[in-house]
Amino acid sequence: MTVAAAVALWHRAHLYKALACVVLTLIAIQYLLSGVLDRRSIETIFTINATRYATNNYRNHPRGLIIYGPATVASLPGNASVWPTSALSEIAIPSKSDTIPTGTSGGSAVGVPNQDASTPNTTDTTIQQRCPLIPPNLVGPVAVSLSPTEKKFTEVKPGGRGFPSNCIARHRVAIIIPYRDRPNHLQALLQTLHPILLRQQIDYQIFIIEQEGTGLFNRAMLMNVGYVEALKERTFDCFIFHDVDLLPEDDRNLYTCPEQPRHMSVAVDKFKYRLPYADLFGGVSAMTREHFRLVNGFSNVFWGWGGEDDDMANRIKARGLHISRYPANVARYKMLSHKKEKANPKRYEFLKTGKKRFTTDGLSNLKYQLVDKQKPKLYTWLLVRLTPPQPS
Ligand code: BGC
Ligand code: MN
Repeated sequence: MTVAAAVALWHRAHLYKALACVVLTLIAIQYLLSGVLDRRSIETIFTINATRYATNNYRNHPRGLIIYGPATVASLPGNASVWPTSALSEIAIPSKSDTIPTGTSGGSAVGVPNQDASTPNTTDTTIQQRCPLIPPNLVGPVAVSLSPTEKKFTEVKPGGRGFPSNCIARHRVAIIIPYRDRPNHLQALLQTLHPILLRQQIDYQIFIIEQEGTGLFNRAMLMNVGYVEALKERTFDCFIFHDVDLLPEDDRNLYTCPEQPRHMSVAVDKFKYRLPYADLFGGVSAMTREHFRLVNGFSNVFWGWGGEDDDMANRIKARGLHISRYPANVARYKMLSHKKEKANPKRYEFLKTGKKRFTTDGLSNLKYQLVDKQKPKLYTWLLVRLTPPQPS
């Protein structure tokens, strides 16, 4: 072999090495890129196929199937200038909106046990997004009617449950109504409330908690029972305690729970649409599941009319929370007439000594018997026998 041939061979060997290096580098680059691409296509495929796994995964991993996409925020409904600004602050503004696949039957209860009607359909591949921050179909002031309507409420599920059909609700709300012997009021409230709650795009259920017998009414204890019993059905994250005789007059008064407990019936016609006093927490009020537990619910010692809501206001303050409110032009209610209840003469005394009972009197010592439970079309009805608490 000549020297020239040897040099040429040496060069060719290097050329092959260089080529091999280039090929290996290209393979490595392709491998890395394919990882990224694969992951994306897995996400896409997962989004579409996830319904197959929905039932189990939703129960065990509340947000396991959520895939993030661009946020959808609707424009302000109605007259934007009267929209309560706190309506926005009460909802953590998402930078991402959740998209999950669900069936056509709803699917608003992400991660909720016992989802029943809202459990995503396992064959449908419809992709739903969370509902807009501000429900787009609100109308503002609503006409309040006292005469029964023929309306069928086709969107309401048995037991008085509703949820949006084309988006994932942001709130799971239990409406708790203490009740006894007011059929006309109940009828008027239900026909006012359902259309409003549906337009508000919340996932809700209305609970009527009826006190058995003719003894003194205990509104507070019935609300505690409502809280406990509602949680046996589903993990509601928000509780609205609602007098049966108050009809909301404006659908911008959102039935949701803000960061602080909210007094909702700010302006009532009976009080000339003015708040009687700053700490009022009666009528209609909203508290998160955690806050209600934190304050140990309502006191159980208030039998007869008055005081229990004031005691709750004290509990709220004692835990470093405060009462929030929407503006009076939105948080408006009409009060239905009824004969005046006999006020509890002991209420001031109980209020004065309330503080020492905050931790021992409430959810912690609640005693009752569930006598009956039924789910007619427009509400879940529970008949309860209250057991007066033992003195602590
Ligand atoms: C009572 C409250 C009631 C309020 C408004 C107060 O005197 O203690 O229970 O909600 O009046 O009627
Ligand atoms: Mn009343």
